[in-house]
Amino acid sequence: MGRSSKDKRDIYYRLAKEEGWRARSAFKLLQLDEEFSLFKGVSRAVDLCAAPGSWSQVLSRKLRVKEEKKEEQKEEGGSEEVKIVAVDLQAMAPLPGVTQIQGDITKVSTAQEIIRHFEGRPADLVVCDGAPDVTGLHDVDEYIQAQLLLAALNITTHVLKPGGAFVAKIFRGKDVTLLYSQLKIFFSSVTCAKPRSSRNSSIEAFVVCQNYSPPEGYVPNMSNPLLDHCYDVDFNQLEGANRIIVPFLACGDLSAFDSDRTYPLQLDGRQQYRYTPPTQPPIRPPYQQASLLRKSNLLAREDASCQSPDQRLDQTTDQTTDQRLDQTRD
Ligand SMILES: C[S@@+](CC[C@H](N)C(=O)[O-])C[C@H]1O[C@@H](n2cnc3c(N)ncnc32)[C@H](O)[C@@H]1O
Repeated sequence: MGRSSKDKRDIYYRLAKEEGWRARSAFKLLQLDEEFSLFKGVSRAVDLCAAPGSWSQVLSRKLRVKEEKKEEQKEEGGSEEVKIVAVDLQAMAPLPGVTQIQGDITKVSTAQEIIRHFEGRPADLVVCDGAPDVTGLHDVDEYIQAQLLLAALNITTHVLKPGGAFVAKIFRGKDVTLLYSQLKIFFSSVTCAKPRSSRNSSIEAFVVCQNYSPPEGYVPNMSNPLLDHCYDVDFNQLEGANRIIVPFLACGDLSAFDSDRTYPLQLDGRQQYRYTPPTQPPIRPPYQQASLLRKSNLLAREDASCQSPDQRLDQTTDQTTDQRLDQTRD
C-alpha cells in the first residue's frame, strides 16, 4: 500500500500499523469474535486466503495466548496443541505457530494438502477472508466471490468438526439467498454480520456459520463440490415458511471508530501522526513487475500508440525488468 493521504485518513489502517497488524482486516475478525466468541474452545483453525496474514496473526495471538495460560495452570488432562494452517495464492512472511501453504483454494490439490494437515484431528474453526481481484463488474465480482466461498465451504466440510464454526467474507448481492440456503444445509445457525471496521460503503459482510451439522449420510466429496439445493429465479420472492431470512447483525462496538469517517490525525491522548511503514510489506507481489515498469515510465507511453501494453511489456520484460527484479531481490 502506498503512502497516500487517504491511507492516513483511514482510522483502522492507522490503528493496524500502530498495533502491529499486517492489515486493517485484523479488526474485522477481532470484532466478529467480540460478538460471536469465535475463539472459545478453539485449538485448531484454518485461515483460507490468508495473505498478508492479519487474520492468521489474530488467530496466532489469541489461540497461542490461551494455550500458554492453560499450560501455566496445568489443567487436568493437559492442553490441546494449537494448530493453525494458513493458505493463500501469495507467499506470506512466517508467523509463529502458523503452517503455511501457498496454493489456490479452488484447486483439489490445495484442498487435499490442507486436509492432510488435519488428518484424524478435525479443525474447530475455519475462516476465509478471500476476495478475488475485483473487476468492477458487480455481477462478475459477486459470482467469483461466491465461488470462492463455496470452495472454502467444500474444504470446510472435510476438516471441520461437528459443532465447529465457519466464517467467510460474502458480497451481499441480489442472489445472496442462494448461498445462505446452501450454508443452512450444513450449519444450524447462519448470521450475516457487518463489523464496525468494514466500510459501510462496501457490500462486503461476513457469514458466521455456527454448529456444523452436515445432513445425515453426507460424505465430503472433492470431485463433486456443488451442493444440491433447489433454487429458482423466484427464490427471493418466496413467501411463508419457505422464505429464508438470514439475520443481519452490525457487530463490534458500535460507538467505536467509523471506518467511513475521516478523523483528524491528532487523536485525544495520542501523539502527532508519524508515518509508520507497513508491518509486513507484500513478498514479491504479483504486480511488482508492473510497478517497476511504471516507475521507469515504461508501462504506458503516449507516443507508442500503435503498440498494445502487452507488446510494450514483452519488449521491456526480458532485458530491463528482469535485471531490475534481480537487483531488488538482492
Ligand atoms: C482481502 S485479502 C485477505 C486478507 C487477510 N485475511 C488478512 O487479514 O491479511 C484476500 C486474499 O485472498 C487471496 N485469494 C484470492 N483468491 C484465492 C484463491 N483462489 N486461493 C487462495 N487465495 C486466494 C488473495 O491472494 C488475497 O491475499
